[in-house]
Amino acid sequence: MKIGILSSGGDCPGINAAIRGVGKTAMMHYGMEVIGIHNGFTGLLNNEIEVFNERSLSGILNLGGTILGTSREKPFKKLLHSDKPEKANIIRENYDALGLDCLVCIGGNGTQKTASKLAAIGLNVIGIPKTIDNDIWGTDITFGFDTAVNIATEAIDRLHSTASSHKRVMVVEVMGHQAGWIALHAGMAGGADVILLPELGFDMEAVNNAITKRAQQGKPYSIVVVAEGIEVPDKKRTAVHITKAIEKATGIESRETVLGYIQRGGSPSPFDRNLATRLGGKAAELIAQKDFGKMVCITGNKISSIPLSEVAGKLKLVTATDDLVKQGLKMGISFGHE
Ligand code: F6P
Repeated sequence: MKIGILSSGGDCPGINAAIRGVGKTAMMHYGMEVIGIHNGFTGLLNNEIEVFNERSLSGILNLGGTILGTSREKPFKKLLHSDKPEKANIIRENYDALGLDCLVCIGGNGTQKTASKLAAIGLNVIGIPKTIDNDIWGTDITFGFDTAVNIATEAIDRLHSTASSHKRVMVVEVMGHQAGWIALHAGMAGGADVILLPELGFDMEAVNNAITKRAQQGKPYSIVVVAEGIEVPDKKRTAVHITKAIEKATGIESRETVLGYIQRGGSPSPFDRNLATRLGGKAAELIAQKDFGKMVCITGNKISSIPLSEVAGKLKLVTATDDLVKQGLKMGISFGHE
């Protein structure tokens, strides 16, 4: 059998571990031919390919990013006023011309949705979930998330000393798109006093009261962790908006830090390396069994698979009943409500 592997959407630590996992297992355990497709679906449109051999996949386990490159190409996005064959048809033609038996798509929600649509027009497809956001339906956790939480937590740890020295409020903005998973896990691990999540909303007055109350209790500094997806007037200045509102209302000097792309950089954590490797191996197994149209996943620490059609278009979001939310509330951590 001959398979093609691509990575699509935002990069994250662990993609190379997944490429290595599916590629090496396919070649060494199942005797398959493996080609790498560069730059996500753009590469399949333009036949930007590389024939892999074992050496191609050596020394990449601990590398951040993706050796294949990525793009945010959405081949099913309607081309306005175009009479050209849809990009998806070009992809199908190139998939056939390459003689592929399966296309492995490593990516987030958008990628899995595209993978599901490619399966629906007749391609053999396997999805491998990846994102620091941890918001993909059908899997307990995605690789990239653990590394991002480690990075964000270390940053928050470092902010305690400067906040304490200056008796300031430090507001930290983390990524996560529409989900609050990174903010919740890094906020709780980093000992934040206030954690604001898109899923739970927030009342600015309640946030200010929580910080004022801490000051009155002799706790002169606070750490506030906000997810980038919370509702503020200007989405591009989330942390600035919250910081200014706090300083204005409480009179306490406040400063913001936006972690941004640092959360997606560098070497994957050991957990992410092994999760990506396990998922890659499962993908190769499904291909060998000709069990296509699936996304590999982990549920209850068991590696499994779920139909792509059940994943496409859904998001996995934080709920008020999440254990960490309930535990935080019991310890007086504010989630933005009285
Ligand atoms: O999906 C991963 C992610 O880092 C999100 O957390 C973030 O909102 C988005 O990608 C940023 O997208 P881009 O890399 O296109 O700026």
